[in-house]
Amino acid sequence: MDLSILTILWYFSLLYLVIHILCFIFADGDFELLLASFKGRRPETILKGQVVWVTGASSGIGEELAYQLAKCGSRLILSARREDELTRVKRLCVESSNLKDEDIFVLPLDLLQRETHAEKTKAAIQHFGRVDILINNSGRSQRSLFMDTSIDVYQGLMELNVLGTISITKQVLPHMTERGSGGIVTVSSIAGLIGVPLSTGYAASKHALQGFFKSLQFELSEYPNIFISTVCPGPVMSQIVQNAFTVDLNKPVSSPGDQKHKMPTSRCVRLMLVGIANNVKEMWIAQQPFPLMFYLRQYTPTFAMFITQKMGKIRVENFKAGLDADTAYFTKPKTA
Ligand SMILES: NC(=O)c1ccc[n+]([C@@H]2O[C@H](COP(=O)([O-])OP(=O)(O)OC[C@H]3O[C@@H](n4cnc5c(N)ncnc54)[C@H](OP(=O)(O)O)[C@@H]3O)[C@@H](O)[C@H]2O)c1
Repeated sequence: MDLSILTILWYFSLLYLVIHILCFIFADGDFELLLASFKGRRPETILKGQVVWVTGASSGIGEELAYQLAKCGSRLILSARREDELTRVKRLCVESSNLKDEDIFVLPLDLLQRETHAEKTKAAIQHFGRVDILINNSGRSQRSLFMDTSIDVYQGLMELNVLGTISITKQVLPHMTERGSGGIVTVSSIAGLIGVPLSTGYAASKHALQGFFKSLQFELSEYPNIFISTVCPGPVMSQIVQNAFTVDLNKPVSSPGDQKHKMPTSRCVRLMLVGIANNVKEMWIAQQPFPLMFYLRQYTPTFAMFITQKMGKIRVENFKAGLDADTAYFTKPKTA
């Protein structure tokens, strides 16, 4: 009798383990985030009526954020440089949600023009009387080898991804400390957690953001209702490769490559909103093998480096051969 109970328990444990392994194989986020997506608070409840300022809302992740936040009933401030694209996004938000025209404020903004940030922030706060959540999403990536790349590109990446983001945060934060509440969510990247070949400057800029916001979080510990979070997505469908810096500031990417292997933007943004609704302070959002890499990196950095070195080598070889370096990390793509 005892033996059979033990046997049953053993089989249950095995089943439990198999379920967990299967969950991990199909995981597209870190455990805390995925747990929040199963059991946590729903973005539709938490974000309804919140005033959310999204930078980089004219395409990609920021555009999708606008649509999903509109469906949640958030009031929106949409920023980026291209006003016509923001107006298009605003129209689509109104068409696809219960929001009215007056619930969305288009506020053109260039993160590089830091001298305008105080005035832009004032306009953002005045429009709805407050900003509850700032989503620092604007940014550009890089596709070039360090040895070939002008130092101006490194400056450009730091000016935009790091200083532009810090500058807007510096303007918005006093408004939040005054009110004693708010959220600042910054879209970093897997390149903020691990090294990525062809993106030395981009990875440096995202590591800088990680360091900045992790440190800021501690400085704000006297404000328990101010929520600081960073989001680290892996490859996601967007315009990021087309818009990436290359060897020189004004040289465009020769081919944007294939998007098929990337995570759908809608899934990435859904997980982001789940993370925001549940105060997840660092979100890892990526399809395998990246979550596995993150966990290996956390616990066995040297072994993880050994594995990523192999993936990185293939990426560099593909790039040097004029092939699409973004399509495959493990194999050479068939076509250029
Ligand atoms: N897609 C991915 O695979 C991926 C992975 C990890 C992290 N990320 C991060 O996700 C964020 C969004 O990127 P995305 O993938 O959605 O790429 P995207 O489609 O190229 O969008 C980038 C956004 O940034 C805005 N932007 C660029 N320069 C700007 C400036 N000087 N001032 C203000 N806004 C500016 C662009 O708008 P305008 O051109 O109209 O200004 C655009 O709305 C970035 O921070 C990126 O690093 C993306």
